Amino acid sequence: MSSTPRTLRAGMVGMGMIFDETYRPFFERVHRDGLYERSFGDIDVPLTAVATRIGSRAEAYRRAAGTKVHAFTSFAGNDSVDQMLKAGVDVACVATPDDRHFEAAKAILSAGVHALIEKPSVLDLAQLDELVALAEQQGVLAKVVYHKLLDPDHKKLRTFVHDGVLQHVNNGYCSLLEPKSISGGQFAEWIKGRNPGTYVAVHYIKLIDFTFGGRLKTVMATGQRGLVGAAQGPTWDTNQLRLIYEYDDGREAAFDIHTSWVNPDNFPGYVEQEVQFRFDNGVWNGHSRRRGIECTVEGKTPFDVKITINTHYNGSFVEPWGERSQRGYGIEVLERFVREVARVEWGGPAAERSQRLQAARSLGYNDLAADRQVVAAVQALEAILAHASSGQPDGVVRVNDRAGGLALYLPGVAQPKVLYQPIV
Ligand SMILES: NC(=O)c1ccc[n+]([C@@H]2O[C@H](COP(=O)([O-])OP(=O)(O)OC[C@H]3O[C@@H](n4cnc5c(N)ncnc54)[C@H](O)[C@@H]3O)[C@@H](O)[C@H]2O)c1
Repeated sequence: MSSTPRTLRAGMVGMGMIFDETYRPFFERVHRDGLYERSFGDIDVPLTAVATRIGSRAEAYRRAAGTKVHAFTSFAGNDSVDQMLKAGVDVACVATPDDRHFEAAKAILSAGVHALIEKPSVLDLAQLDELVALAEQQGVLAKVVYHKLLDPDHKKLRTFVHDGVLQHVNNGYCSLLEPKSISGGQFAEWIKGRNPGTYVAVHYIKLIDFTFGGRLKTVMATGQRGLVGAAQGPTWDTNQLRLIYEYDDGREAAFDIHTSWVNPDNFPGYVEQEVQFRFDNGVWNGHSRRRGIECTVEGKTPFDVKITINTHYNGSFVEPWGERSQRGYGIEVLERFVREVARVEWGGPAAERSQRLQAARSLGYNDLAADRQVVAAVQALEAILAHASSGQPDGVVRVNDRAGGLALYLPGVAQPKVLYQPIV
């Protein structure tokens, strides 16, 4: 390329596990190779500023990365996000614990900066409404990362559904079990009062919502306690969530999503991930962990190296041509977002920016506005569990009920509690 590349300055809020797994390899690759598309040309996407609570992770990364990444400024403390924004960025990614997404995303969008938020986007619909309205006002994108939609297995499922090869889903189950090291080590600081459903069921809520469409009708949930916290306390070890959807032909489907963050650390894979969906004319069975590899290494498996390795999400390799790489759909999803931003900004005449912005917003796989039913399910789940841990178990949330958009019915209580009044 002869012309000077355009620059999309990137900011990062939070530098924990997910930064290491997906953002770091993305920023390092784009630092080396840039990003090109005929519509927007050659662009640089330097990581120029990061905001974290303490700053130590940023310094450790700076030392480890050396010249592999663009030189960035690290801001720490309570006003780190504001400082990062003052330093000037064009896009910013939010990868803080999920109950801290909203404040960061609000600040980013208010500054007129495109935002990419880790899943779950936010924890309630009022927050979602505010962020969607802000993005609209500011003329920027607000998007959420659901990398499972880019998993080739899930793309094939959706392709079969989209093309009518698989017809009308009736029911299904999904499970996602994280190891104890997640709840006991890495997340111990922020998961008091929290549950693994919000953390990981969202991957499957989105898969179901995006793949099958339909209207969310009912949310039920339960779970078990006693390992991460007290047996009667507010912190959950495992959760079972049930969603009921209805479709335009008047038929329904039910989905059970089981999640955990207390799976044994010597489990043969990092995460257990399995789905089954039953259709009028077929059955889909998917197993993201047992896709083919079984590997044993004396003294290493299953702790340092897993027996069933997922090479699809963010596997690290020596490529046949000698280069070391880290690649997979977890990284591809970040690149997609940057491409969508670049298309909005430079993918055609400046006078047509608003049409391009509209086109990018209409992508339901990642736009915040299309995350409504997922956030509704999360808000319902959290409310049902909060009531269960304070002595009112077995609640059911009905969506777009006569009483309101999200109405929580508790056994023995005549009037529902309205969690969200407008239509979901
Ligand atoms: N897409 C995925 O599969 C996937 C996987 C893991 C985590 N996640 C999501 O990514 C997010 C972060 O998860 P993680 O595993 O990296 O967590 P983590 O606990 O490893 O890291 C969190 C980071 O956020 C920083 N932080 C905390 N509060 C902050 C604040 N107020 N301002 C700025 N920085 C702050 C911490 O310093 C830390 O660097 C969560 O929303 C999680 O759901 C997504």
